Amino acid sequence: MTETDDGVFARIVDALDVGIYVYRLERNDDPGSLRLVYANAASTTATGLDVATIIGTPLGEAFPALMQTDLPATGLAIARGGEARRLSDIVYEDDRVARRVFAVDVFPLPEQSVGIAFTNLTGQRGAELQATQTLEEMSDAFFTLDSEWCFTYLNPQTEPILERRRPDLLGKNMWEEFPEVIGTPFHEAYERAARDRVTTHAEASYAPLGRYIEMRAYPLPDGLAVYFKDVTTERRIADQLVLAQRLEAIGRVTASVAHDFNNLLAAIGGFAALGEAQHDDPASAGRYFHEISLASDRAVHLTRQLLAIGGQQELDPATGDLNEVVREFASLLAQLLPTPVELVLDLARQSVPVFADRSQLEQVLLNLVVNARDAIEEGGTISIRTSTQAPADLVHDVSVDAAWLQVTDTGSGIPPELAPRIFEPFFSTKPEELGTGLGLATIYGIVSQSHGDIYVESVVGTGTTMTVVLPAHASSPVTAPKLLSGGTTSPRRA
Ligand SMILES: Nc1ncnc2c1ncn2[C@@H]1O[C@H](COP(=O)(O)OP(=O)(O)OP(=O)(O)O)[C@@H](O)[C@H]1O
Ligand SMILES: [Mg+2]
Repeated sequence: MTETDDGVFARIVDALDVGIYVYRLERNDDPGSLRLVYANAASTTATGLDVATIIGTPLGEAFPALMQTDLPATGLAIARGGEARRLSDIVYEDDRVARRVFAVDVFPLPEQSVGIAFTNLTGQRGAELQATQTLEEMSDAFFTLDSEWCFTYLNPQTEPILERRRPDLLGKNMWEEFPEVIGTPFHEAYERAARDRVTTHAEASYAPLGRYIEMRAYPLPDGLAVYFKDVTTERRIADQLVLAQRLEAIGRVTASVAHDFNNLLAAIGGFAALGEAQHDDPASAGRYFHEISLASDRAVHLTRQLLAIGGQQELDPATGDLNEVVREFASLLAQLLPTPVELVLDLARQSVPVFADRSQLEQVLLNLVVNARDAIEEGGTISIRTSTQAPADLVHDVSVDAAWLQVTDTGSGIPPELAPRIFEPFFSTKPEELGTGLGLATIYGIVSQSHGDIYVESVVGTGTTMTVVLPAHASSPVTAPKLLSGGTTSPRRA
């Protein structure tokens, strides 16, 4: 190499962003004899040490703390003909150099020399370290997967939940390590996050571990980030609460049924006794028989209602036009309303196919309109809307062909604290002679048995909208048949 070449190379090396030192080995087997013969400009920026103060000094003198790392041994080996190597990050600190993290490459040069190329990674590694520390310390379990579904990172919180050690999972394929996840709601959430690049959420019991898990998956540029936690305790408490509420509701309903039947039986028994005493007076005995038959009719009606609430009626569903049902029933409904209450029909222009039992549909309509009427104190409006499309402002999960029926009133509205109870059998805010509290429970029973659903939106002082959705065809159930459970599950959705 000529003088000129040397100058050109020095200029190039000085222009680099990477710190470069050249050390020459002076005694064959002594790493302490590696002496600094060249340092570029970037080395000063990287270490903060002026080249002039260290040039010509042995490695251990310029950087005493380096003697504890594997750099001297590596330098020696490479100076004696070894191959270039990248070292793991070196953390360096002494009384002149503040703590820094360096990425270091060592490469062979002629004449028993080695080049050391280094970059200051302190800022970058610090940020990474902080991020990792946050992940390590956060309360949720967290892991990342690459695009091949292999674990690339797991925080310590994953161990007690997954009952696996982290080193055993790193680099392994999730589906191979946890095949039981396939087919669960978690599987679907993972797949959807990866496929549609959206955040997904799932909460379900995971039988193999006997836990309830709540998980969220976030798409990453090359995989997924997954947060999850064990919510078994929370779920158990919630389940117990629901069970307690359900038992309480069943108790209330049973007591009400017993009370109503008892009244009817008391009437039947009383009139029978009176009839017995009057057996020589056929005219009054006839009156008592009539009373007995009225009471037994009421008992039959009550039984039917209870069956409807339980979703246990004999239904005779057929495909019809919801518009036609509403139109034909409207005149009868109008007769139930006092003059200051106006009935408005807002029917879809085209027919609205619905698959339901027509008389049950009328029962639903009747109960909704009577409730609306009762909610209007002075004057107001009740509108009945039909549509093949879901109302724009309604949050729902219906994706099949459906018939939508809405009854809106300008009445008192439902106070939020009562809303969860309105579908409960025998729950009524009306005086005993005006309401038994079976109307909405019956509607819920009919709608559920017809594979439909019901949504409530109500604002106190403004009014209420009840939205019923029913299948359009026999083949398009909106929901699976529900197991009715004493009315504690509020069907309120909106
Ligand atoms: N449109 C509405 N506006 C305000 N409150 C309502 C409305 N519909 C129902 N509610 C409330 O829900 C309660 C339960 O209604 P539900 O129809 O089940 O029973 P009820 O009307 O009280 O009695 P029944 O229908 O058996 O005669 C009502 O008492 C009322 O407080
Ligand atoms: Mg009612």
